[in-house]
Amino acid sequence: MHFHVLTLFPDMITQGLNTSITGRSIESGTITLNAVNIRDYTVNKHKKVDDYPYGGGAGMLMQAQPVYDAYRAVMKDIQARGKEKEPRVIYLTPQGTVFKQKMAKELAKEEDIIFLCGHYEGIDERVLEEIVTDYISIGDYVLTGGELPAMVLMDSISRMVPGVLGNQESGDSESHSNYLLEYPQYSRPEEWMGKKVPQVLLSGDHAKVDEWRLEQSLQRTKELRPDLYDKWAAENEEYFIKKAKKEERKRRNELKKQKQKK
Ligand code: ADE
Repeated sequence: MHFHVLTLFPDMITQGLNTSITGRSIESGTITLNAVNIRDYTVNKHKKVDDYPYGGGAGMLMQAQPVYDAYRAVMKDIQARGKEKEPRVIYLTPQGTVFKQKMAKELAKEEDIIFLCGHYEGIDERVLEEIVTDYISIGDYVLTGGELPAMVLMDSISRMVPGVLGNQESGDSESHSNYLLEYPQYSRPEEWMGKKVPQVLLSGDHAKVDEWRLEQSLQRTKELRPDLYDKWAAENEEYFIKKAKKEERKRRNELKKQKQKK
């Protein structure tokens, strides 16, 4: 996966992603990160990249020329690697589609992704029309620029790129990948501050552990994210049928036992 970021603050991007799991993947080459300073491409002799908006209004706008030339430079690099497919160009904006886990999974299949980070009051519409393929928001709030949202996307996309997560678990088994929130986890010691690790986790019975974890996930999701719970329930009707049958069997067995006692 090759990430390219068009930004006025390249250091923010490289420093933000050069640690931990993303840092390790960049070091090993599973991911490459190319943060391009838009300012390096301005033709203005004072290195200016912004100007007043036509029609008036507050603040300054990033101009089309330096953004477009930075984009062209990145495209030249991509094409020099013999790539024919046009890469996705993602503009981070609160006006975009709200980012979801499913999008991370989908974007992880791309070979190159270009992120465009705006600042000030935004970017001249004409260059957006010319180069942007996707408008993405990370939530209904306004940030000072697109760098943090771009980092959020790159972090979550990276997790879905094969080879990035160290353990055998794929990013698929976690919160949101199947609509369910994660179950609680415990590590040593077995007892801490008088709180004991649930007995089933010490039992060594993997089927029981899996069942308990799924139940915990379901409970949490139902309580904290009923919207996600409903989606899961709609796609997993057979789970509830099986569960009801199991409970019915248990109830009959107990009745039988009680009768035998008498
Ligand atoms: N730029 C500013 N705020 C943003 C947000 N919420 N999502 C994506 N890009 C942004």
